[in-house]
Order: sequence, then C-alpha cells, then structure tokens
Amino acid sequence: MSTQLKAKSPFYPGQPVPVEFFVGRSEQINRILQRGVAQVANGKPVSIFIQGEYGIGKSSIAGFVQSVAELKQGLLGIYAPLGGVEGLSGLATSIVSATLRAGVYDPNRSEKIRNWLAKYVGQQELFGIKINLEKIKQDSVQLSTPHQMLEFLGETYNRLKDSGIKGIFLVLDEINGITSSPQFSHFIKGLVDQNALSQKPVPLLLMLCGVEEKRREMIQKHQPIDRIFDVIQIDSMNSDEMEEFFTRSFNSEKMTVTKEAMDLLTHFSAGFPKIMHLVGDCAYWLDTDGEIDKDDAFRAIFTAAEEVGKKYVDQQVYKALRSEDYKSILNKIAKMGPDIMSFNRSEISSGLTEREKKKVDNFFRKMKGLKVIRPGDSKGEYIFNMRMVRLYIWMQSTQNAYIKK
Ligand SMILES: Nc1ncnc2c1ncn2[C@@H]1O[C@H](COP(=O)(O)OP(=O)(O)O)[C@@H](O)[C@H]1O
Ligand SMILES: [Mg+2]
Repeated sequence: MSTQLKAKSPFYPGQPVPVEFFVGRSEQINRILQRGVAQVANGKPVSIFIQGEYGIGKSSIAGFVQSVAELKQGLLGIYAPLGGVEGLSGLATSIVSATLRAGVYDPNRSEKIRNWLAKYVGQQELFGIKINLEKIKQDSVQLSTPHQMLEFLGETYNRLKDSGIKGIFLVLDEINGITSSPQFSHFIKGLVDQNALSQKPVPLLLMLCGVEEKRREMIQKHQPIDRIFDVIQIDSMNSDEMEEFFTRSFNSEKMTVTKEAMDLLTHFSAGFPKIMHLVGDCAYWLDTDGEIDKDDAFRAIFTAAEEVGKKYVDQQVYKALRSEDYKSILNKIAKMGPDIMSFNRSEISSGLTEREKKKVDNFFRKMKGLKVIRPGDSKGEYIFNMRMVRLYIWMQSTQNAYIKK
C-alpha cells in the first residue's frame, strides 16, 4: 500500500460548505431564486426565513444562493452573523461590518463600498478587510432604528447601482441570541413595513436563518411577524444527494469510493450534512490508497461517532450513554432508525427482561434529568431534545451491531 501525501481535505465539518461542494436542495434553491432573488432584482422587496434544525445546512444554503444572486442577478450579498449579539446596536454593528466585507466578486464594487464607508475603514484586520470596529460601534446606536437602517441600505444600493447592482441581499444568520428581545421583532417588522410603504423601496431581500422555535419566539414577541416571511424549511438529505456529495468531494481529491463503502457512509450519515462532513473527513485522512473501501468507511464511522460523542454530546450524557447498563435499551432506540425523534416507552420495554425493564425506568429518569429527552403529548411518549445525541446513539449502536456481524 502506498502512502499518499494528503493535499487538502474537501470536507468542512465545522463551517458552511464552499459553493463547489454544495449538493442538493434544488427545490428550496429554485424557490428562493424565483420568489426571492428575481423579485428583488425587479425592484420588489421580499423577506424569507430559512428554517431548520442545528447543523442541517441553513447557513450553507444562504451562502450558496447569495453567491448565485450576486454573480447572476446582480444582488449585493451582505452576510451578517449575529452569534453573541443581543441588542439592536450589536445588530447594526454586525450589518455595517458585513457591508464593508461585501462586493468581493468585483473589485470595482468593493472599492465603491470602501469609499462610501471610508470612515469605518481602519487598522484592524477582520476577514482580510481593515475595519474600524470602534467607530462602527459608536455609530451603531444611531443606526439601530428601522428608518436609519433603511437609509443605510438604500444608500449602499444607490452607490452601487451603476456597477450593475440591482438590489441588496441581506442575510441575518445565527439569530439565537437576539430573538428573545422584543425590540428585534419590532425592528424587523418596522424595516419591512417602512420599506414597503416608502415611495422608493430599497430592493431588499431580507433573509433570516434559524430554528423554528426562534421564529415562533419572534412571533410571540410581536404577532405581525407571522405574516412577513416566506418560510423555507430545510430537512435532511436523501441518499442520492448524499451519494453525490461523497462522490464529488472524494473525486475532487482524485479518490474513489466503492459501492459497499458508499452504502455505509450514507447509511450512517442519515441525511445529516454535519455528519456527512465528519465521516467524510475521517475517511479522507485515514485512507492510504486513494480508494475508500468498506474497511476505510467503517473505521471512519467509528472515529466520527467518537467525535460526535466528544464534541456535541454533553460529558455527563456521553458517560451515561456509554454505560454497559443501558446498552440493550440504546440498541432498541437505535433500531427505530436515525430519523425518529420521538418514541414510546412501551416500544422500548417490550421484549426486555424484568431486570432490564427496571433499568428502563432508571434510564428515562436519568435522561430526563440530563435534558436529553422530554415527555411528549401522549402518554408514555418521549421526545429527543437534541439531534446530535440522537445521532450519537444511532452511530454507537449500529456500529456495535456491525462489529458483531
Ligand atoms: N447542501 C450542502 N452540501 C454539502 N454540505 C452541506 C450542505 N449543507 C450543509 N452542509 C455542511 O453541513 C454542516 C452544517 O451546515 P451549516 O450550513 O453550518 O448548518 P446550519 O447553519 O443549519 O447549522 C457544515 O459542515 C456544512 O459544510
Ligand atoms: Mg448556521
């Protein structure tokens, strides 16, 4: 066996996928392009909420359509991550910094932006652009009304019009920290309404990315939010999409995947993009001959399961889930398939010995205490709180079953 020198892993377990490795989601993409991007390019503002659970691919699809919109439809993509942002001035800071980073596909455009926002260009390097964050922060309070923000976005648009820009595509991502603030809901509604009512609306595609609960939380803070968004749901991938992903990623590094290995990789990834990247990355690094075979795939899954356990599962939960005592219970849960997020107590206890049944009670108590599961609506029903824990149980037990074979 020859040992290859590895160039660069085509897998990105911890970040949105680069455009060239993006797969699937064609239905959602078409909808965003037709009902969002094309409308805005024709002057009509649109607001979209990308909804889906943690790690399912919201940021990735937002990044993907932003780049298509910028390259093909002339919308200026502004990507503002709001992780850690709690108030409106933080929101304004993030949007202004993001605007300074925009327009990278065309030096003419990025130069125009830098001229327009010259007072915010500074010494500090942030994503390759020098930003005067302190200055932005000083001005952010002023910018945190819908009216001022619209003026800011409108002016950005005006200054770029003659370089072929037909509108602004603003993404607000990682909204977890800010949706609990009622001001945020009011700000968003105000932004959308004031723009719609203005004589010359800014052609603005406003896109928020978040889990469903966060959208509900926004509605709870301000009911009319319910009406402004076209909600686009992102779910797990099907096997064709997963196969395309693995084939394309490995092929880009001149590696191939055997049929058996492919079945294993897709089976364990269970349609979950985050797991696909983790498993793919493990396989990439441990392969030695340029062909991912059954053995490579299996070892990759083994390593990836450990990583999921260590990185995404709380330490106490991780310990509990590895206890010999709960093995048969966990196996039963795993057998229900990786997608099932709720189950019934009786499904788990049926066919178990008396001794094991006692453990089931103990197990449920412990898992509830650790917030892994919560009681559902019907009697005896339980629901998993976190997909990663669910997937970890699936990977662990299915793997053990394979080893026994
Ligand atoms: N369509 C896709 N094709 C390939 N990989 C994807 C796709 N969508 C997401 N991923 C990968 O899945 C993981 C989670 O994606 P991300 O966009 O960060 O999810 P979210 O924003 O919903 O938490 C990342 O590793 C990302 O690279
Ligand atoms: Mg994200």
